[in-house]
Amino acid sequence: MADSQRKILVTSALPYANGSIHLGHLLEHIQTDIWTRFQRLRGHQCYSVCADDAHGTPVMLKARELGITPEEMVAQTRAEHHQDLTAFLVNYDNYYVTHSPENRELSEYIYKQLDQAGYISRHTISQLYDPQKEMFLPDRFVKGTCPSCGAEDQNGDSCDVCSATYRPTEVKNPVSVISGATPVLKDSEHFFFDLPRFEGMLKDWLRSGAIQTEMANKLQEWFDEGLQQWDISRDAPYFGFEIPGAPGKFFYVWVDAPVGYMASFKHYCDQHNIDFDEYWKEGSDTELYHFIGKDITYFHCLFWPAMLEGAGFRKPTGVNVHGFVTVNGAKMSKSKGTFIKAQTYLEHLNPEYLRYYFASKLSDNVHDIDLNFEDFVQKVNSDLVGKVVNIASRCAGFITKKFGGQLAEELPQPELIKEFQDASETIAEYFESRQYHRAIRLIMSLADKANQYIDAEAPWVTIKDENKQADTHQVCSLGINLFRILMVYLKPVLPQLAEKSEAFLNDTLDWSSAQSLLTGHEINKFKALMQRVDMDKVNAMVDASKEDLKAAEQQKAEPTQDTELSKDPISETIAFEDFAKIDLRIAKIAKAEHVEGADKLLKLQLDLGGDTKQVFAGIKSAYDPAELEGKLTVMVANLAPRKMRFGLSEGMVLAAGPGGKDLWIMEPHEGAQPGMRVK
Ligand code: MSP
Ligand code: ZN
Repeated sequence: MADSQRKILVTSALPYANGSIHLGHLLEHIQTDIWTRFQRLRGHQCYSVCADDAHGTPVMLKARELGITPEEMVAQTRAEHHQDLTAFLVNYDNYYVTHSPENRELSEYIYKQLDQAGYISRHTISQLYDPQKEMFLPDRFVKGTCPSCGAEDQNGDSCDVCSATYRPTEVKNPVSVISGATPVLKDSEHFFFDLPRFEGMLKDWLRSGAIQTEMANKLQEWFDEGLQQWDISRDAPYFGFEIPGAPGKFFYVWVDAPVGYMASFKHYCDQHNIDFDEYWKEGSDTELYHFIGKDITYFHCLFWPAMLEGAGFRKPTGVNVHGFVTVNGAKMSKSKGTFIKAQTYLEHLNPEYLRYYFASKLSDNVHDIDLNFEDFVQKVNSDLVGKVVNIASRCAGFITKKFGGQLAEELPQPELIKEFQDASETIAEYFESRQYHRAIRLIMSLADKANQYIDAEAPWVTIKDENKQADTHQVCSLGINLFRILMVYLKPVLPQLAEKSEAFLNDTLDWSSAQSLLTGHEINKFKALMQRVDMDKVNAMVDASKEDLKAAEQQKAEPTQDTELSKDPISETIAFEDFAKIDLRIAKIAKAEHVEGADKLLKLQLDLGGDTKQVFAGIKSAYDPAELEGKLTVMVANLAPRKMRFGLSEGMVLAAGPGGKDLWIMEPHEGAQPGMRVK
């Protein structure tokens, strides 16, 4: 082991207890699990905990709708979530729930510490109240007319038509989503946490490398806008913990949710005699990492470290933020069948396919990650089945049938072996820094080399030659050894394949196993380690997801998340200079035609008032070429030309919408003239 043993605690964001685990959640749990397994394989002490996030209005209402208590519902969901994650080989030391005695105690303790230190204040505020259901309405439970553009039936905090954001009290003709009643304004006393007092500390912490630079830059905007007092209380009825000394007032779910990380670990510590304080006390030299999606950065990088600091605990060593999962290039969609639940996936496909695919795409940045089904099938089949497993299956039969299951005493090709072994630290560095895609690329390039070697030696030919038995034995034994080294590197990603390989190799693998070789060692009979993926199975999974939707539609549609503060974030910021480089022009569509052999593209001739450009645009699903001719639109005129299969594309037209028929090109006002610059 290069460095001494580290003590690490890792968490994934706590899934809400009112919905199923889906592909988006899985990205996060798989990312965390690979990292955790990697650390353990390297010999470090690495605990990982998670839990269901039990509290809040949506959970309370969903339980009511089901006619059970929130406690019952949460217990069921927790069990189901835990089962799903386990099926994906995601291995937490403890998967708990935030509605627990440990969490109540820790949340109350933290609150009292903050209160005593003078960080809590009380103010009366006026909010929308549903007089029929006798409850205050979270933003997402109000609908009405947008105060900005007048569009009807918009959310209580933002408008889908003009993208304006506003307070629910500003909405015109507001309606309660829960009862349909017209909400009234009602006063109530709320508790506020003094976030602005932590500004200096937060800036230092963010500069300490606790978070990726691109996220730290985004957080800078929040400082620029000025930190606000944070409203941490909610009025009854609310499913949560009552605030000590304040009957009828509850902690807002986002107060006790991150404390749930501590509570889940506390529960584990108590059962296993582990020193909780060693991991949480101020000045601790253990490491603490939270893996989260970009939508909840605000909570983890502002409120959470401030709460910890204010209450005398250590702050996270790192908050590792990932992007969102898209499927076939678009947001996961229920109607397209791409909003896929863990359970639906498991009915059709092997979980390790997904672990491998996500690993091959995950990096340390916050870009969204696309699950493209064709790419998925291709990658799994060609990399895992075609390259890695193939090495073993090409060599194992001969060892068993011709050499009594014994590997040769000596191996050829010391340089090739050295190359495989020397990659260990580079691959480890890639896993450590969450650049899994780089690790996978390097591992696959080694797999290619092993296959090339076997191809060149062709043991299936030499085996027939009496004089070449010893050589053939060595070649196949080397093949098995190279396979074994690759399985060491892949073990964090593919624990089940690793386990089967261990059984076959008659060996147990940890990271240092890559530095040793198996010679004169007996292996077991080779059994197929992994099946190919079949596109039909993927299609069946998509169809089944559409079925799920039909079933769900029979139940009442309702907001599923308490998203009061977690707005879907705009992508990372770009500098003004980057924006200024984009030359947007009004263009007239002089000609539009179908492209033979292209399912999505139309070929456009765009008139820029003198200059003409040819552009291939992916808008065939939404437009007939004939209806486009003569229209004005907006194009990126200075995009570097790109050679496509069908010809040169010299720019791009702008379009908006979820896709398919719902896609609209930008149509400027008629007064605009071709060639005009768009500002
Ligand atoms: N309950 C809160 C987290 C509290 S942590 C103290 C919550 N729950 S969630 O169920 O909505 O999301 C859980 C995690 O899944 C978050 O990190 C979120 O970013 C992630 N994802 C949810 N949908 C996702 C995708 N489509 N893609 C990737 N991750 C996504 O937020
Ligand atoms: Zn609007």
